[in-house]
Amino acid sequence: MDLHLQGGFYRWSVVVMSLFVSVLVVVEPHHAVASSRRATFTLFSGAPPDPPIVGLCESSIIIHGYQCQEFYVKTEDGYVLNMQRIPRGRSGSGLLNNMKQPVLLQHGVLVDGMTWVLNTPEQALPFILADSGFDVWIANTRGTRFSRSHLTLDASQRAYWNWSWDELVEYDLPATIDFLYRQTGQKIHYVGHSMGTLIALASFSEGKLVDKLKSAALLSPVAYLSHMTTAIGVLAARSFVGEMTKLMGVAEFNPKGKEVANLLHSLCMNPSVDCYDLMTSFTGKNCCLNVSTVDLFLKNEPQSTSTKNMVHLAQTARKGLVSKYDYEKKDVNMEHYGQGTPPIYNLSNVPRDLPLFLSYGGRDALSDVGDVELLLDSLKFHNGDKLTTLFLKDYAHADFIMAVNAKEMVYNALIAFFRRH
Ligand SMILES: *[C@@H]1O[C@H](CO)[C@@H](O)[C@H](O)[C@H]1NC(C)=O
Ligand SMILES: *[C@@H]1O[C@H](CO)[C@@H](O)[C@H](O)[C@H]1NC(C)=O
Ligand SMILES: *[C@@H]1O[C@H](CO)[C@@H](O)[C@H](O)[C@H]1NC(C)=O
Repeated sequence: MDLHLQGGFYRWSVVVMSLFVSVLVVVEPHHAVASSRRATFTLFSGAPPDPPIVGLCESSIIIHGYQCQEFYVKTEDGYVLNMQRIPRGRSGSGLLNNMKQPVLLQHGVLVDGMTWVLNTPEQALPFILADSGFDVWIANTRGTRFSRSHLTLDASQRAYWNWSWDELVEYDLPATIDFLYRQTGQKIHYVGHSMGTLIALASFSEGKLVDKLKSAALLSPVAYLSHMTTAIGVLAARSFVGEMTKLMGVAEFNPKGKEVANLLHSLCMNPSVDCYDLMTSFTGKNCCLNVSTVDLFLKNEPQSTSTKNMVHLAQTARKGLVSKYDYEKKDVNMEHYGQGTPPIYNLSNVPRDLPLFLSYGGRDALSDVGDVELLLDSLKFHNGDKLTTLFLKDYAHADFIMAVNAKEMVYNALIAFFRRH
């Protein structure tokens, strides 16, 4: 039982993680110090983060023959986010910096930036972009292993985990994008996967960031989650809202921890849940993953997020609405928002002239086709020539970042889209 549960759990984590893989980053340029290759992580005076033993550049990028730089960006609420930059392709051709178009990659929930670089350089998006002449930046969301520092808080404290994806919209995403914008002096192409699409859409709906972006590509877009009908997803959504809040309150949601294992255990006792293949029942049947890549994935992921964030995502699934975190009590909402219910993010307010590329899969259980259709309906007044959609009937959630054929199926079209804008 234990063994099978654990296997199931990890597969589940993969699914969930890839589901919500998106990113946001916050930066304070003055404090960020770049270093090439042997990153010496001199940060800001005051609160240097623990230097990662082996950073992402060293473990996963330089080994393929690319240059790579580590950066740290501070958010307005004090989190220190790690970013990587691949400034040029393997051939080394082309000019550094201001001649190249910057691209920011934002992963989803329960994973980190490493998920982009698990495949070979011929298959993985950051390498393909760098070899195609782009200046590539990878974000790592607060709470994940390379982004666990804070100016005054420690990740062992509850207060460190007092945030949901609202704060990613409010702080991380603007900090990251602002940092890139200042570093490169250029507008940015954005790529989000899963939760990385949700936070981008929420920002755009408030008119934020759009003046610093050239375009945005949304892979496995997650906004509405009401069609997520898999038994495990629905059950998880219910438990996250109910049990998890009671159980953990403000705390780290550590997929490798005891509380989460207990939660999964109770979910798996439910006869409608197939815990032998949780990844498939959660993310959908991915068509085109390489077994070695999945192994590498499981060695490195999943990553922590906050319980409050999981609850917020579960609320989104349950309510069929994209809104701010619901404190579930009228007076508490009133205190935070000046109204009894949380304010919505109105996706119809995404600026109509922002170039958008949306790619979604027919087998994606997290970013369900029905929910993507709801999103597309919100965008129905978008300028026709600014909205590109790409539907792949065999793709599920993780295929968009890890499929062996993603270059042919998605990335070539994505790059063509970037070149048009
Ligand atoms: C979490 O932050 C909110 C403000 O966003 C604050 O009202 C609340 O007291 C904080 N809770 C904890 C446990 O730090
Ligand atoms: C699977 O991944 C391994 C390790 O990166 C690689 O050597 C192999 O070529 C990949 N297979 C396919 C079909 O892409
Ligand atoms: C969202 O905005 C659109 C137009 O900007 C408006 O017609 C619609 O009523 C709004 N929806 C909600 C739920 O406020």
